Amino acid sequence: MLRTHHCNSLTTADAGKEVTLIGWVDTVRDLGGVRFVDLRDREGITQVVFHPDRGEVHEQAHRLKSESVIQVSGTVVKRSAETINPKLPTGGVEIVADKITVHNICQPLPFPMEDDKADKVSEDLRLEYRFLDLRRPRNLNLVKTRALASKAIRHALEEEGFLEVETPILFKSTPEGAREFLVPSRLNPGSFYALSQSPQQYKQMLMVAGVEKYYQLARCFRDEDLRADRQLEFTQVDLEMSFIEREDMYALIEKMLKRTWKEVLGIDIPTPFPRMSFQEAMDRYGVDKPDTRFAIEITDFTELFQQSQFKVFHTIANTPGSVVRAINAKGLADITQGELANLETIAKTLGAKGLAFIKAENGEWKSPILKFFSEEEKAALKEKLNIEDGDIVFFAAAPWTQACAILGRIRLEAGRLLQQRGKITIPADQFNFLWVIEFPLMLWDEDEKRFLSAHHPFTAPVKEDEPLLSSAPEKVRGQHYDIVLNGVELGGGSIRIHNPEMQKHIFENVLKIPADIVESRFGYMLKAFSFGAPPHGGIALGLDRLVAMLAGRASIRDIIAFPKTQKGQDLMAESPGQVTPRQLRDLRIEVLDPEEK
Ligand code: AMO
Ligand code: AMP
Repeated sequence: MLRTHHCNSLTTADAGKEVTLIGWVDTVRDLGGVRFVDLRDREGITQVVFHPDRGEVHEQAHRLKSESVIQVSGTVVKRSAETINPKLPTGGVEIVADKITVHNICQPLPFPMEDDKADKVSEDLRLEYRFLDLRRPRNLNLVKTRALASKAIRHALEEEGFLEVETPILFKSTPEGAREFLVPSRLNPGSFYALSQSPQQYKQMLMVAGVEKYYQLARCFRDEDLRADRQLEFTQVDLEMSFIEREDMYALIEKMLKRTWKEVLGIDIPTPFPRMSFQEAMDRYGVDKPDTRFAIEITDFTELFQQSQFKVFHTIANTPGSVVRAINAKGLADITQGELANLETIAKTLGAKGLAFIKAENGEWKSPILKFFSEEEKAALKEKLNIEDGDIVFFAAAPWTQACAILGRIRLEAGRLLQQRGKITIPADQFNFLWVIEFPLMLWDEDEKRFLSAHHPFTAPVKEDEPLLSSAPEKVRGQHYDIVLNGVELGGGSIRIHNPEMQKHIFENVLKIPADIVESRFGYMLKAFSFGAPPHGGIALGLDRLVAMLAGRASIRDIIAFPKTQKGQDLMAESPGQVTPRQLRDLRIEVLDPEEK
């Protein structure tokens, strides 16, 4: 190699050695003619000194630009006591340079490389120069964290006998999933592949094929609207196992995550993880991925308000399927008008008519709706919500799903506001893993006027609920499990159906997919299931989300080497881009005017 050591390896024990280092110019300082260069590579920083009596070498050091690539040879020298830098592992030594080669001169930087300054630069500019942004030591550390996590996961699974198998990325369009990316087939004009949203169907075929334990760090593609925790292409820790029940999967994933947290962060996470039913998660926290690091919980008052004088609550409390519920944001009575208005806007975007509240301040309750409440109602609220001076209570009166969504969001916002005020702490280094289980197999879709799978159509119903499949599909629970961490859905999976009649029944009679579509899209699965399909189940964890949690980053863009922006663009490579008419002709594709509605 062009070096004898990397930039984080030399210590006082190396004093006197002749060494060669190569890397990027981090900083250049001049102290009375003596020039100090911090030379940086992936591993760290070593100080290089250029003395004025070294003639040409010193002259060259004069012209060094930040982030240029240089190779330096010289002698390792112990620093004098007062110049030791205790912050660097190499801070006890410096290299007295007697040779320098400049390999590449860096242009003026588009943004400063120091974290505190770079973090203030627009993300778009940083993504356009992603090669520079990634070079920042903190971001390279995120690359390392990701690699370390992948390694720990691979080791854990291989120790358990999993075989890594690659599955096709060019798949075909299937209904019942997210929106897909289509790829035209030149060899089959007019036909399209779809990029794989997940290896779901192939991994089930691997089980029929007898692989027994499959895993893959699989790239998945979904043409979704992007958010902080969603990308168009992302990576799943995808696995599938034969001859198992749900308990086997819980134990496996707990072991794998325990090992990953130990190897990456040195933290022992306690196992087994707690479990909570979907119903309980929704009723207590308003979401199926509760952040249990803080205590605010939802309380139901539907029965209380069935006799109420407050017409809004009275009507909703007496509507089947609707509820009146509340949370007490303890200590948040000092909420500002602006913050309150913001909460109201959030509630309204979720379909609420408003966000009724009661503030307890200076010994009295304040609320636009207080006058409608009877003494009995007030007493019940006070007792059940433990309302004390300084608290604020928020209400949602709505159909169950909507009330959950509203109070779930308000709860998170209230938690954030309370944390800002230092009234509660939601520790970033606390990892509350949770299994959410017993999801409904089907959810009614108002738009499509039919049931849709809560997870996907291959999930097996809970055995004792099978008789309800035809009569009351909404009551059937699925053998589905989600692994949740601090309010983030890390992964989900299920025990699958392996009986062709059951699978066909779910497709055709419950999901109401026409028989010819079932045949054309899923025919091969039904066929495979009648050629010796083992009982099996699996799970997929979002690797990007998992690493973001390990690294304490809010956005998965930070831990993807080359992420796409909110608009799905790679600003560095300028993708997506135009293609030539010739390419389109080969594919028999005509592009409509993108501007035309
Ligand atoms: P599911 O669709 O729940 O299940 O996906 C599993 C996990 O993948 C991650 N994930 C994403 N991460 C980043 N960007 C996205 N757009 C994105 N979409 C999903 C999440 C999620 O929990 N085949 C099934 C799994 C199975 O049943 O085995 C599946 O794909 O962390
Ligand atoms: P109204 O009588 O419609 O003016 O509502 C009185 C108060 O209750 C207002 O503060 C509204 O924001 C609030 N509110 C109205 N409908 C609901 C609802 N369904 N859930 C919660 N709050 C509501």
